[in-house]
Amino acid sequence: MHWPMAFQRGKELMPRWEDGGICYSATDSLGRPWRVCIARHKPVINQVECHPYLSQADLLSHCRSVAVCVTAYSPLGSGDRPWASPDEPSLLEDPRLGAIAKRYQKTPAHVVLRWHIQRGVVCIPKSVTASRIQQNLQVFDFSLSEDDMKLIESFDRNERFIVPTVERDGKRVWRDAEHPHFPFHDPY
Ligand SMILES: NC(=O)c1ccc[n+]([C@@H]2O[C@H](COP(=O)([O-])OP(=O)(O)OC[C@H]3O[C@@H](n4cnc5c(N)ncnc54)[C@H](OP(=O)(O)O)[C@@H]3O)[C@@H](O)[C@H]2O)c1
Repeated sequence: MHWPMAFQRGKELMPRWEDGGICYSATDSLGRPWRVCIARHKPVINQVECHPYLSQADLLSHCRSVAVCVTAYSPLGSGDRPWASPDEPSLLEDPRLGAIAKRYQKTPAHVVLRWHIQRGVVCIPKSVTASRIQQNLQVFDFSLSEDDMKLIESFDRNERFIVPTVERDGKRVWRDAEHPHFPFHDPY
């Protein structure tokens, strides 16, 4: 089960009406499959967007309490997401992260990945760059102090990058906010 919002079937991944609007489907794509399937086994992994701007502290604490592992997708803040606008914050360029990285003689990406690991979160950074793929493995030769862990935790701003946004009437809004199963609270 992947995403709470369903789209109509079509030849394209995301079929659109003639006016460009996305063809939503009212099918309950999470609740219904969950109710009809016979869940003999407890889920073992919950994969959610998670990074210092979306620390998911409450969800992480809940998952820990019921022994469900959390996997962070977009763990570095997904800087290359196609709908990013120039005014959106770039996690890896956050000067506070840069200052921490400098103290450990590491990169901001190292610090973020190490923060995930020390919280017990599995992370799946993506890179198409060989040197970065190698770099992202160099996170087991240092540890962040408790103070730095708390400091990074304080960067949380409930910022979801993997919910597409569009510009409407000069305002940045969530593209799918009109979907009947849109699950997020609109911060805009
Ligand atoms: N379950 C879901 O709904 C869901 C949703 C989104 C993503 N995901 C999964 O999560 C994975 C990662 O998410 P993501 O691609 O959205 O975001 P991400 O891993 O947080 O960020 C990817 C971006 O970070 C850059 N990067 C990687 N390592 C770096 C480093 N060491 N220094 C500087 N920049 C670095 C990459 O650049 P380059 O590639 O140019 O090197 C790319 O621009 C995806 O591959 C996907 O499998 C799952």
